[in-house]
Amino acid sequence: MASDLHKLPCLLLFFFFFFFFFLFITISYAELCNPNDKKALLNIKKAFNDPYILTSWDPQTDCCHWYCVKCDRTTHRIISLTIFADDRLTGQIPPEVGDLPFLQTLMLHKLPNLTGPIQPTIAKLQNLRFLDLSWNSLSGEIPDFLSTLKNLFVLTLSFNKLTGKIPNSLSQLPNLGGLRLDRNQLTGQIPDSFGYFTGEQPPSLILSHNQLSGKIPSSLSRLNFPSIDFSRNKLEGDAFMFFGADKMIQILDLSRNLLEFNLSEVVFNQSLTSLDLNHNKVFGGLPPAMTELNLQYLNVSYNRLCGQIPVGGALQSFDLYSYFHNKCLCGAPLGPCK
Ligand SMILES: *[C@@H]1O[C@H](CO)[C@@H](O)[C@H](O)[C@H]1NC(C)=O
Ligand SMILES: *[C@@H]1O[C@H](CO)[C@@H](O)[C@H](O)[C@H]1NC(C)=O
Ligand SMILES: *[C@@H]1O[C@H](CO)[C@@H](O)[C@H](O)[C@H]1NC(C)=O
Ligand SMILES: *[C@@H]1O[C@H](CO)[C@@H](O)[C@H](O)[C@H]1NC(C)=O
Repeated sequence: MASDLHKLPCLLLFFFFFFFFFLFITISYAELCNPNDKKALLNIKKAFNDPYILTSWDPQTDCCHWYCVKCDRTTHRIISLTIFADDRLTGQIPPEVGDLPFLQTLMLHKLPNLTGPIQPTIAKLQNLRFLDLSWNSLSGEIPDFLSTLKNLFVLTLSFNKLTGKIPNSLSQLPNLGGLRLDRNQLTGQIPDSFGYFTGEQPPSLILSHNQLSGKIPSSLSRLNFPSIDFSRNKLEGDAFMFFGADKMIQILDLSRNLLEFNLSEVVFNQSLTSLDLNHNKVFGGLPPAMTELNLQYLNVSYNRLCGQIPVGGALQSFDLYSYFHNKCLCGAPLGPCK
């Protein structure tokens, strides 16, 4: 009798062990993926004609384990869809991407045969934080609806065939940290509204390699942009909005435009580490205060500058190609002044 009682805890332990063992097995085999998300993903796969890159998207398996997607750890909803580097994927962005309501990251990148417009159903993805549709063959205009995606932190539409104007409404994105629209065929002016981004910190703006024209809006002087690349456009006039003692800009690339201003009158802030003004119509000379900057990159070549390059700071650490093709700039690293 006493020995039988003794066996009871052992038996209990045994049952507990099996209970948890089977629970574990069941949980690990239970499908975590939300059925609506799974359906949307399978529709996306079908719309792309069952591409090789989506082979792992097998309806018999849990979509939380598929390649190119990520499920949230607790809700098990699809929060990320990233398909990139595949030239066999052809067609347009399927409307079903709008049926993944918990998406925070949507990246369709380096898909040279991805064509057509920026899919309108993306407007439904109100949780999006990262939208990267770069290095594809997307065409049409940049749609206004992007400004309704209030959580967007990064918007990258670089290297496509987008045309038309930059929508004014993009300045209504309160959390935007970076906007990249470079290497498209965008025309018209930079929106005046870009001086009125409402976030705590204005975004970095990369608008290079387009056909943007007119003056850079003076409203941009209202904000302290961390970094600006407006190179290779047809911008005219002044660039005063980025200069001044109180400006915190670190990287400024305005090269290959039609800008025309007196560099002697420009006041710099110490924060500037990279300045590229090559191929413009900048005149005057290099202000002596430039010797006080911690410049890592400087290029003022192909302008209309004159006078002696101030001696000191980083200015003589650059070679002559940072300074050549000006009107009468002289002194090291160029030849001596006459
Ligand atoms: C994809 O685009 C490349 C050019 O980038 C082309 O050579 C190729 O034939 C295209 N593939 C398909 C399947 O259309
Ligand atoms: C540069 O700008 C910042 C922000 O406006 C300011 O706090 C800082 O004093 C400026 N630096 C100089 C040397 O003027
Ligand atoms: C540029 O500005 C400086 C300083 O105000 C002035 O002395 C110079 O004459 C101006 N240069 C030109 C070409 O207008
Ligand atoms: C400055 O720009 C010119 C013109 O594009 C280029 O030839 C030169 O190599 C550049 N210099 C540096 C240091 O990058």
